[in-house]
Amino acid sequence: MRTHFCGLIDEALVGQTVTLCGWVNTIRKQSHVAFIDLRDHEGLAQVVIERENDEAFTLADQIGNEYCLRVTGTIRKRLSVNDKLRTGTVELLADKVEILNAAKDLPFAMHENPNEDMRMTYRYLDLRRPDMQKMLRTRIKLVQALRRYLDARGFQDVETPILTKATPEGARDYLVPSRVHPGQFYALPQSPQLFKQILMMAGFDRYYQIARCFRDEDLRADRQPEFTQLDLEFAFVEEKDVQDFVEALIRHVFKEVVNVELDEAFPRMTWAEAMRRFGSDKPDLRIALELVDVADALKHVEFKVFAEPANAPNCRVAALRVPDGANLSRKDIDGLTEYVARYGAKGLAWIKVDDLAKGRDGVNSPVAKFLDDKALDAVLKATGAQSGDIVFVGAGTWKVVTDFMGALRLKVGKDRGLVENTWKPLWVTDFPMFEYDEEEKRFVALHHPFTAPKVDDIADLRANAAIAVSRGYDMVLNGNEIGGGSIRIHRPEMQSTVFDLLGIGPEEAEAKFGFLLKALKFGAPPHGGLAFGIDRIAALMAGTESIRDVIAFPKTTSAQDLMTDAPSTVSDAQLKELHVKVAAESKSA
Ligand code: AMO
Ligand code: AMP
Repeated sequence: MRTHFCGLIDEALVGQTVTLCGWVNTIRKQSHVAFIDLRDHEGLAQVVIERENDEAFTLADQIGNEYCLRVTGTIRKRLSVNDKLRTGTVELLADKVEILNAAKDLPFAMHENPNEDMRMTYRYLDLRRPDMQKMLRTRIKLVQALRRYLDARGFQDVETPILTKATPEGARDYLVPSRVHPGQFYALPQSPQLFKQILMMAGFDRYYQIARCFRDEDLRADRQPEFTQLDLEFAFVEEKDVQDFVEALIRHVFKEVVNVELDEAFPRMTWAEAMRRFGSDKPDLRIALELVDVADALKHVEFKVFAEPANAPNCRVAALRVPDGANLSRKDIDGLTEYVARYGAKGLAWIKVDDLAKGRDGVNSPVAKFLDDKALDAVLKATGAQSGDIVFVGAGTWKVVTDFMGALRLKVGKDRGLVENTWKPLWVTDFPMFEYDEEEKRFVALHHPFTAPKVDDIADLRANAAIAVSRGYDMVLNGNEIGGGSIRIHRPEMQSTVFDLLGIGPEEAEAKFGFLLKALKFGAPPHGGLAFGIDRIAALMAGTESIRDVIAFPKTTSAQDLMTDAPSTVSDAQLKELHVKVAAESKSA
């Protein structure tokens, strides 16, 4: 149909007859000439239709934006060069113009930033936009680079089932009713976790898969109900083996895909340190602000808001110094107070340091009057506050304070332009094995229930479960958790113990994970691995905030596909066949 791509014509073709196909990016018709910017996946070409070409010139009247055209003509040099365009030195003088297909009036202007719902409904138009093409191509390049690297190193790409049994990763399952087994359901995998472990037990040694995962959880900019992992597993390894390998892999793909050189050796930080200094298990190290614990300075004060948590277990009083922050207005501070309230903060104390040398007289703060000189001085010293700074103080339960002060750190860092323009990867290690779920009154796994504890001894784990540390690790880049993994439990007794500590009794363990417990009894090798979030890495590489921009057909935050209108109702006959009844109150019109 065509001889060349629009975006690739150049001066070497001057004088030649070529045929281009593409979409009308813009069309301008003047009295003697019409200009069309014709677009394909490679870029734009300028097409010129002169009035002398009667047929084509008349046809141009019918042509609108996003019409699909085929144009044959001669390449010639442009009179006025367009530096912004790769093809800006040449143009196509049209001989023959064919409308391959017309386009209706567009639902949005292609060159503006359309609203999200419109983009999703008309995704084929949205994806035609060059920015979108570019972002999706970054993802394609990433996946190619990952595959090449792993294929060359003996990794075996094995597909694992999509119709399967629940694989707990902390989200709700998507279920699929079975027609031939009335009342029974498959679960879609939250990850290939157990299958990849079993592949290690089956002797495959090094596995990878570009795997689709399904999780029914609350969605955000960095979460989709179905997303893609680069899933990896290695037999006969310890933490360092896995970490060194995947770190080199990530460095390689960043260099290859976006020409970014990441640190030679990623820094490592324990989970406890990350929570203490940054209020997050995925600290964004591009922001130089840090939390400082000030409970010791406030144990004796009369102000209960500080003194109670300063003296109570599982509580925390943390301060955040913002350099030059004294110029924040009351309105700014009220805004931040409202912001942290979303994370459970009951309030946000602040101390503006106008003149450090003047001590109490040099500060402006609604809480200073509740603090004696010694306490006030100690808080300012601990944070290193200088004249012109503001110090925020958060007090309450450890979890709430850590969360909201961590969120405050990010918000203030972003709002005040304190995010360094660079790449800051790190490993977060030494996660707690379990987290106590207050509502369910039981332990839940912080990673997943197959993660090995640091202690090898079962009695030791049982005795110290609340403080047990796991062999899990996360890779974090610029405040995003881009990958997570662990060394796994490979002995059946330890696996049963961990199930037991998680409140999964022997019968439930047998019903849910009997196949795993059995497989562990046949010489399972020590093994471990990790999974990267491909969507998140691609989004970082493409420089976009939302992983939706690097997924061709993503879902909205309410888990809908607006283009196909999924999910949707199905016929009663289909439901009957699947032995499913929809509760009357759930039926939508
Ligand atoms: P985990 O649950 O940490 O580990 O997932 C691994 C990585 O997948 C990405 N990710 C997501 N990306 C987009 N949308 C989501 N809803 C979503 N959830 C997770 C993150 C995350 O770091 N089986 C283990 C891995 C292992 O232990 O080897 C697992 O799935 O980038
Ligand atoms: P109150 O005693 O609630 O009037 O609060 C007095 C001051 O303490 C106000 O400036 C509040 O914003 C602040 N404050 C209240 N609760 C907290 C908290 N949990 N952490 C930090 N500051 C708080």
